[in-house]
Amino acid sequence: MSSNKYSRITTKTLLEMKSKGEKIAMLTAYDYSFAGLVDNSEIDVILVGDSASNVVAGHETTLPITLDQMIYHATSVVKAAKRALVIVDLPFGSYQSDPKEALRSAIRIMKESGAHGVKLEGGNQVKDSIERIIQAGIPVMGHLGLTPQSIYRFGSYNVRAKENIEAKMLLSEIIMLEKIGCFGVVLEKIPAILAKKASKSIKIPTIGIGAGVDVDGQVLVLHDMLGMNKEFSPRFLRRYCDLDEIICKAIKQYSKDVKSEKFPNKKEQY
Ligand code: KIV
Repeated sequence: MSSNKYSRITTKTLLEMKSKGEKIAMLTAYDYSFAGLVDNSEIDVILVGDSASNVVAGHETTLPITLDQMIYHATSVVKAAKRALVIVDLPFGSYQSDPKEALRSAIRIMKESGAHGVKLEGGNQVKDSIERIIQAGIPVMGHLGLTPQSIYRFGSYNVRAKENIEAKMLLSEIIMLEKIGCFGVVLEKIPAILAKKASKSIKIPTIGIGAGVDVDGQVLVLHDMLGMNKEFSPRFLRRYCDLDEIICKAIKQYSKDVKSEKFPNKKEQY
């Protein structure tokens, strides 16, 4: 059954969807115009991802984006989202020091943007911060596997948890995240068989990106799946259109029309 029947998706809706075996569709958005399109297209969860650092701001990693910038993006997205649940990434440096700082950052996101919850990366090392945020009544989504904010520790964007020790650690951390009250967990770039096992071991939904089909939902970065970011081509990415080409064609035609005085014509003037 389609999740269309839900008027506003909540964290409870996602739990129900998992229990009924309904898959969850999640996509990123960073501004009002795109968020409106995403919200109108049967997407259940809009993630204001810190991938804005890459695809909007042009940084090499997600590390430079600030809390103020995330709040700016989230505020625009929330205005457009009439049906989807809006979750916002806590950016690097806004929650790692201590639980108080994490709570302050999460409160700023909720209060200033009107979003419905936050996501943050990591397991045991951020357990206290997650607990503190949840105690304040703020829904938290976890994020395990490849956690891009730790890229300089990993040294690469390769698949995570291929070895037994790391896989076991991930399985224990996902159970811990459920136990302390997370409403869902993103699993990024891990073996499909491990993602399946992890998803079966908990009642809260898992949302995969590069984690195979046996998870409870999928997430992609909007610009990547629309074909606006050609340099990024991981195996897990399916491009649903070639927006690069469509946009460039339109812009080139506009430029040509301006130079040849075909734009504007008589009907397009006062
Ligand atoms: O920032 C982001 O877009 C994300 C997704 C890749 C899950 O965290």
